[in-house]
Amino acid sequence: MRQKDYWDGVAETKQFTTPFQKDVFCAYVERGSKIADIGCGYGRTLKELHELGYEDLLGFDFSKEMIKRGKAQFPYLDLRVMEEGKIPLEDESVDALILFAVLTCIARDKDQSALIGEAERVLKPGGILYINDFLLNEDERNIARYEKFKDVFESYGTFELPEGAVVRHHSEDHIFELLKPFEKKEYERLTFTTMNGNLSNGFYYIGEKKEVSCS
Ligand SMILES: C[S@@+](CC[C@H](N)C(=O)[O-])C[C@H]1O[C@@H](n2cnc3c(N)ncnc32)[C@H](O)[C@@H]1O
Repeated sequence: MRQKDYWDGVAETKQFTTPFQKDVFCAYVERGSKIADIGCGYGRTLKELHELGYEDLLGFDFSKEMIKRGKAQFPYLDLRVMEEGKIPLEDESVDALILFAVLTCIARDKDQSALIGEAERVLKPGGILYINDFLLNEDERNIARYEKFKDVFESYGTFELPEGAVVRHHSEDHIFELLKPFEKKEYERLTFTTMNGNLSNGFYYIGEKKEVSCS
């Protein structure tokens, strides 16, 4: 199944649950900042930001059905469909960028790196990247599916759910390697409830785009 088709198919029914650390975010991102939420789903995080007084908000998702639901539910938000792999924003044009439970949807290292490269491109120097995502688990159910799919996706932790979604749980080493272009400001391990109601290890991360890129 194409992943976009999966997300289109569940757009009306899934509730996304990974937590948003409002206080920490507000400490790094001033009101009046331009904020982009990539893989915004139906816009639940932007709705919270709107309620906190942020006004320059943009949401992008490759699922047109997610965007349709978001526009119906929160008509005051600017939500747009994007092509996979390219953030449709100018270089150095946003103050903060959010990726909530999006890396988990991207199986391959090179595609994750490309998305982080896009985040770096569109953020202003000193801009803030705020990510939350899933970490590897050690319970039997998870280990069995990591093992089953490790050769299919060439990464331990990526697996297919029975309903057709491919999802990835990450090692911390992988996450820190991926986010090397940014300067880590905050990182905390958390326990998430997944969109299917299970518990999983997770994290949140806040990084700053370095003023002079070393890449
Ligand atoms: C688990 S949901 C999280 C939605 C939202 N970030 C939230 O936390 O409420 C993942 C979202 O990312 C979108 N997505 C997955 N891969 C994407 C990609 N490569 N480009 C853009 N959107 C993507 C999916 O359509 C889905 O809406």
